[in-house]
Amino acid sequence: MTVTEQKFDALHKHRERLGKSRIADLFDAQRFDDFTATCGEILFDYSKTLLDTPARVALVELLESVNFNEKRSAFQNGEKINTTEDRAVQHMALRVMDGREIIIDGTNVTPDVLAVREAMARFARNVRDGSIAGQGGRFTDIVNIGIGGSDLGPAMATLALAPYHDGPAIHFVSNVDGADIVDVLEKVPAATTMFIVASKTFTTQETMTNAETARRWLVEHLGEEAVSNHFAALSTALDKTAAFGIREDRAFGFWDWVGGRYSVWSAIGLSLMIAIGPQRFDEFLSGAAAADEHFFSADPLDNVPVLMALVGVWHRNICGHATHAVLPYDNHLARFPAYLQQLDMESNGKRITKDGAAVDSETGPIVWGEPGTNGQHAFYQLIHQGTTIIPCDFLIAANPAKPIGDHHEKLVANALAQTEALMVGKTEEQVLKELSANGMNEVEAHRLAPHKAFPGNRPTCTFLYPELTPFVLGQLIALYEHKVFTQGVIWNVNSFDQWGVELGKELAGELLPLVKGEADGSGRNGSTLGLLDAFHAMRAK
Ligand code: F6P
Repeated sequence: MTVTEQKFDALHKHRERLGKSRIADLFDAQRFDDFTATCGEILFDYSKTLLDTPARVALVELLESVNFNEKRSAFQNGEKINTTEDRAVQHMALRVMDGREIIIDGTNVTPDVLAVREAMARFARNVRDGSIAGQGGRFTDIVNIGIGGSDLGPAMATLALAPYHDGPAIHFVSNVDGADIVDVLEKVPAATTMFIVASKTFTTQETMTNAETARRWLVEHLGEEAVSNHFAALSTALDKTAAFGIREDRAFGFWDWVGGRYSVWSAIGLSLMIAIGPQRFDEFLSGAAAADEHFFSADPLDNVPVLMALVGVWHRNICGHATHAVLPYDNHLARFPAYLQQLDMESNGKRITKDGAAVDSETGPIVWGEPGTNGQHAFYQLIHQGTTIIPCDFLIAANPAKPIGDHHEKLVANALAQTEALMVGKTEEQVLKELSANGMNEVEAHRLAPHKAFPGNRPTCTFLYPELTPFVLGQLIALYEHKVFTQGVIWNVNSFDQWGVELGKELAGELLPLVKGEADGSGRNGSTLGLLDAFHAMRAK
């Protein structure tokens, strides 16, 4: 047994020791202080989990057994930790605010980072004040065309920071389904609309198809000469943006050491910057930089992303919980679960270790979620009374984005009520007492009691922050990024490649001529052929 295997084994023993313990029974006067940590003004509460001090010590020992400090330093120092693509991973360099040197491959990348950030800020300011204008005057609408990390980050953050939005309207088009772009084109005025084509590679089928469609639409409305003024691009492939016809001064670059799902801090954030302005965008970066500082310096028990990761490993590997729900009680974080799906599942949805062997534990959980309170009236039934235990993250702002009446107090009461109900539950005896106090006869009460009882003992973590400002949003995202990194280290997977998306892309390329009816599918499987036949028959009607 390796040392890490021994540590996993010890953790399983702690789970056995905790047996049928109740989370609620772990509480003493100290537990809240002891099982919370802060990153700046963000409070992370993991006291409502079935972890006690000895189990937590064992989790920290697990972390030590994988040489976490060394691996975190390699990450921080720009080493090529993305070993299957031979790349460094340095999205933290994009949020350096003090001009400090960041060395990648022997070169200080900070001057280039700052130069692009400054060019973006100039551009954003000029678009916002109208000194860069469309054929019909000041740009009223910006359409970001991108997918995956080139969409989810700016789309999620633009919605999250809606209260700070004082620039032109921003639209996001991602899906190759024509309905996505047509819906947007039907509502924007060509003469004052700018398209931002966001693609790290500038080859992604969905994005290039949408970009070509947008280009054709613009030319139909305004003529070929409008393209240079109505298009901008964000990419690492500036030769390809030029080939598309995008002016050099409208193409904003970044680098291969920025992964797609870690790119909102780069030029990919331009649409967000235009929405909220460069100063607010800097605050967003500063929040992430503060979380970086925290992650790279705090001890494990004070380190929020490390604790998030350890709690996650406890739930995934030791308790066997396969999914993880993210439940923002903050309506503007509606896209945060979708954003985290890519961040977490594309990073740690892996079955091969960095050494090329099969992993011997479960890796990334299925991440999902919706804002509360809406989820309460949909899927919380299963979270409370289903057969599957789902660890949940609750996110709560102390101050509302849009204060009105007592909405916020009701929202917060609901969030706290859910975490309490999930932990405490309600026994059949309690239900029976309530029913008979309400005058129900004994037979009927016994018939209903099992349905109305709640097992409880379901773990939750809560993030509480003063308000969803650009700074806090930057912090929150970076905390989850570092959680994902930490778990990747524990599972010994490469969190920075995504080969799992390639096969589908390849086959879509092969199938396109069949779908178009330009080739026959001999040799393909019966289901695909049957579906193709049925598809063509339906199309013919
Ligand atoms: O789906 C795979 C992926 O490569 C993501 O990692 C990435 O964010 C997305 O496609 C978009 O890629 P690009 O920015 O190169 O268009």
